Amino acid sequence: MKGVILAGGLGTRLFPLTKATNKHLLPVYDQCMVHYPIGNMLRAGIDHILVVTGGPHAGDFIRVLGTGKDLGIKHLEYGYQEGEGGIADALSIAEDFAEGEPVLVILGDNFTDADLGQAARSFTGGAHLFLKEVPDPRDYGVAVFDDEDSSRIVAIEEKPEQPKSSYAVTGFYIYDRGAFDYVRESEPSARGELEITTVNNFYIRDGLMTWSELDGLWLDCGTFHSLFTASQIVAEARQNGENRFPRIASENSP
Ligand code: G1P
Repeated sequence: MKGVILAGGLGTRLFPLTKATNKHLLPVYDQCMVHYPIGNMLRAGIDHILVVTGGPHAGDFIRVLGTGKDLGIKHLEYGYQEGEGGIADALSIAEDFAEGEPVLVILGDNFTDADLGQAARSFTGGAHLFLKEVPDPRDYGVAVFDDEDSSRIVAIEEKPEQPKSSYAVTGFYIYDRGAFDYVRESEPSARGELEITTVNNFYIRDGLMTWSELDGLWLDCGTFHSLFTASQIVAEARQNGENRFPRIASENSP
């Protein structure tokens, strides 16, 4: 399995911080935000990674990540998304990189200490979602479950005003090669983007979706408060000598 980290966008919710660099290069305590999803990939045994970025600061990634060798990445590639086409559009850039293999996809601002390796190793095809129960899921994709079989997802609703469950779709996904055909089948949403939720709903329609509960904490670091909270969590973990967030960032200058 290969890894794809989606790290584009303009990060407007974090202006003015993101006027100077890409959101995913902002600090979360002692590393850049993007080092954490890379850590998740490496922990899951995935060391062929594509970082898809975009916007005016894409070049900054090279300075921070370089070839990836110092971080323990065997093979690091970069992709560039033009414009604001959405998450599914960014994913489509990974098709050649994937070469038909399944991919673990992480939205670069999603932060977790969960081990994604078990799901990656037992993946046999289709798609796999990691859900997390949250008090208010209205800002996320939300799972709708079958009335008769409450473990079966029948749809994902994107940012619903009245969520039908408390299970949010986190930004960790496993896809087989079919994802790229589903992106081609997708139409832009009301906000003019190709949504990852559309792709997920195609998998559900075709009976090819599995899910598990994300076994760890989950934050989307896209706001000032969650960015600050993530830093606090890492600082505390470091202080307590925990290794839930391995420090992979290199001290070497590129
Ligand atoms: C995206 C997805 C949403 C998912 C969320 C996780 O939303 O569209 O389904 O729940 O990521 O972070 P965004 O935050 O990009 O609007």
